[in-house]
Amino acid sequence: MAKVLIIGGGGREHALAWKLLRDDPSLDIIAAPGNPGIAALGRCVQLAADDVEAILAMAMEERVDLTVVGPEAALAAGIVDRFIDNGVPIFGPTRAAAEIETSKRFAKQLMLDHGIPTAAAEFHRDIESATAAVRRAGAPVVVKASGLAAGKGVLVCHTLDDADRAIQMMLGEGAFGEAGAEILVEAFLTGEELSLFAITDGTTAIPLLAAQDHKCLLDGDLGPNTGGMGAYAPVSLATPELLVEVRKTILEPTLAALRDCGRPFRGLLYAGLMLTTEGPMVVEFNCRFGDPESQAILPLMDSSLLDLLTRVARGESLVGVAAPRWRPASAVTTVVAAPGYPDRPRTGELLTLPPDEDDVVVFHAGTRRLEDGQLLSAGGRVVAVTAVAPTLSEARERSRRVAGKVGLAGRQFRSDLAWRELERQADVTGAGVT
Ligand code: AMP
Ligand code: GLY
Repeated sequence: MAKVLIIGGGGREHALAWKLLRDDPSLDIIAAPGNPGIAALGRCVQLAADDVEAILAMAMEERVDLTVVGPEAALAAGIVDRFIDNGVPIFGPTRAAAEIETSKRFAKQLMLDHGIPTAAAEFHRDIESATAAVRRAGAPVVVKASGLAAGKGVLVCHTLDDADRAIQMMLGEGAFGEAGAEILVEAFLTGEELSLFAITDGTTAIPLLAAQDHKCLLDGDLGPNTGGMGAYAPVSLATPELLVEVRKTILEPTLAALRDCGRPFRGLLYAGLMLTTEGPMVVEFNCRFGDPESQAILPLMDSSLLDLLTRVARGESLVGVAAPRWRPASAVTTVVAAPGYPDRPRTGELLTLPPDEDDVVVFHAGTRRLEDGQLLSAGGRVVAVTAVAPTLSEARERSRRVAGKVGLAGRQFRSDLAWRELERQADVTGAGVT
């Protein structure tokens, strides 16, 4: 019986555990630190995701066959480098390769140097030159912290006043500490966003189904930016022609550039794309599975994820490996968030979950179980409810209905997920959107 260790404890890691167990029901799943949802599938060990040495020691003692890393913090802490040093198979990029996400300067420079389509940007460390740069760019303009800022370091500024405030906050008040001591002033791109994940051995890229995330808290894409309030897949914008273009202009050149600078990227490369009138451009790269996109994508995957992750973790090549197979269905994931999320989520509230239904999975994201069995909320995003159905509108309806049955005082969730795709479908069929 193979042992798989999953690093992390959110909805993404629950979805990974759920999918890997479907690929091989005999798997022995261990998670660090895991969550109560993963605890129903395996064993949770109370180690923080970035406690690299303790996790390595545990993986060696347990003789784990495969380790899969969820959060970027563990990658930034060099977990993959330490596992490789000790000959322990692990899926994820090294610390140096993970800089494609963890250092916006590195990522942007790599793209600019290699002609990979992305928004023009400048780097600044002082308020004066940054203020001049936003004036040259004109509003709208995007101000980003160069380092990791827990998903909060990007401010889309619709006016120059907003941009001045963003600069003041990052460079003046040091709101993101060292991560915001250098900022990017970036051209604003317009178009639809697409999350495209590719599993790669460093050279060959195997894309998964494209998904769309919903970053804004409220229906109508209003309210503050969040870590992601929901996702759906597939997305009809991701035509085979578009995927060929993304592979040729973005994925392959990026992997080649990373190899050329001595940082081959093995793991999951997440391309956050903007589909502009001039073609797909990179908004950002991430070095890991997305959350909540994974909760929508993985339940649609019919072929084995375990096989792909195992090959990459063992250092094998993906040349000739078949493209994944997908269920001919749609998935919608509704994130149920705590009251006060994203600024000040209230946690520690009683939580009750609806019973399982066919083709609906309630993934735990921020939950905790007391000794008496009672569940409590323990994070901003509390659960992610994924429904799979033959049509997107049915998937949304079911996901929304089950999310509505989550018992949590003051809970927040969006009810208009996938609205862009449903509008596109309505345009094609002439039918109304429900
Ligand atoms: P990130 O954390 O880099 O994914 O950025 C968060 C969100 O900000 C993205 O999903 C986009 O919606 C938006 N964003 C980031 N960069 C740009 C850009 N150059 N133009 C327009 N929107 C952007
Ligand atoms: N869904 C956005 C992210 O995982 O970064």
